[in-house]
Amino acid sequence: MIFVDRKGTNSYKWDMRPKDAPEDLISMWVADMDFKSPESVIEALKKRVEHGVFGYTFKDNEYFESLIYWMESYHDTKIKKEWIVPIPGVIFGAAAALRLFTNEGDKVIIQPPVYWPFFSTIKENKREIVTNNLVFKDGEYKMDFEDLKEKVKGAKAFILCSPHNPVGRVWSEEELTNLIEILKENDILLISDEIHADLIYKKFYSIVKFHKMYDKIIVLTSPHKTFNIPSLHIANALIPNERIRKEFEDYVKALHLHMTNPLSTIAMIAAYRKGREWLGEALKYIRENMRMVVEWARDKHFVDAYLPEGTYLLWLDFRKTGFDGDRIFEKLLKNGLWLQNGKSFGCAGNGFMRMNVATSREVVKEALKRIEKTFG
Ligand SMILES: Cc1ncc(COP(=O)(O)O)c(C=O)c1O
Repeated sequence: MIFVDRKGTNSYKWDMRPKDAPEDLISMWVADMDFKSPESVIEALKKRVEHGVFGYTFKDNEYFESLIYWMESYHDTKIKKEWIVPIPGVIFGAAAALRLFTNEGDKVIIQPPVYWPFFSTIKENKREIVTNNLVFKDGEYKMDFEDLKEKVKGAKAFILCSPHNPVGRVWSEEELTNLIEILKENDILLISDEIHADLIYKKFYSIVKFHKMYDKIIVLTSPHKTFNIPSLHIANALIPNERIRKEFEDYVKALHLHMTNPLSTIAMIAAYRKGREWLGEALKYIRENMRMVVEWARDKHFVDAYLPEGTYLLWLDFRKTGFDGDRIFEKLLKNGLWLQNGKSFGCAGNGFMRMNVATSREVVKEALKRIEKTFG
């Protein structure tokens, strides 16, 4: 993989430094990579930039075909062109779905510890958060279906994180079937955030695969995480149900968010058509980083680490230190390591830190030294 120094690029991860952080701070919080994007993506963008004219453009057939090709070749999942609704981002898609298909004050279920914008999106859109916490046992997180059966009563929507950020689960076919059965019985809209779908170490099942069983679904996917292009703002909603799709599409159009940015469009096509080899190498590199951390943590009295099934994120359990999450975060920061405080994923994340290992081996090794210095 090719690593680039990202400092001085208005990078959330490297340039939004917390106050009083040491000069040589290592940043492993935000979920983007320190790898250069695939050469095929960069070349396609260069060619388009060199053209030099950026007049209005539209998405041609190849835009849709490249996603259909990716879903079939990488995930063995057939989708239809008419199901695809282009959107500027996954969280936009979730917010739009909530605004369209639920009302103010309606209950929306999420599964903490979970990606914090799930909380804020529900709150900012004046809906009510209902938590169906994941259960952590013997180093693995599972869904709590008994609790869910209670929580669905009176709820209107459910936001699934699949694969799950931060805990790294890639949900099994059986788990997803159980989930859908409960949601179907209670007529709950299923919004599935599948932004991490391509970053997997076992088979991934998209919710769209289950559309014949239940089609009150909105699946949100994007090349953002996979090919390290999140600032290009290009994502897609997959909506098999015609009525739901029409309403969603009309909403996107009404806000004029269907307009095309030729650079993002071109980047997505190049990534889905020619990025697979690069992704394979990235995943191999990331997996080695993960193994190194898990191996290192094996005999440590202050941390437990587990290999996730997907994502490039490690969910480190520091509860053995006996400190509150904020204290763990501050102590690490003081020693020059910026991890994501587990508490930001809900109370269920207290005592955990999320570590993004889509970076160089050297950075990971240095991070481990700093953790050891803090708690060893
Ligand atoms: C689970 C999850 N969903 C959504 C996003 C952000 O998606 P977007 O930038 O397309 O809104 C992230 C980014 O970290 C994420 O981890």
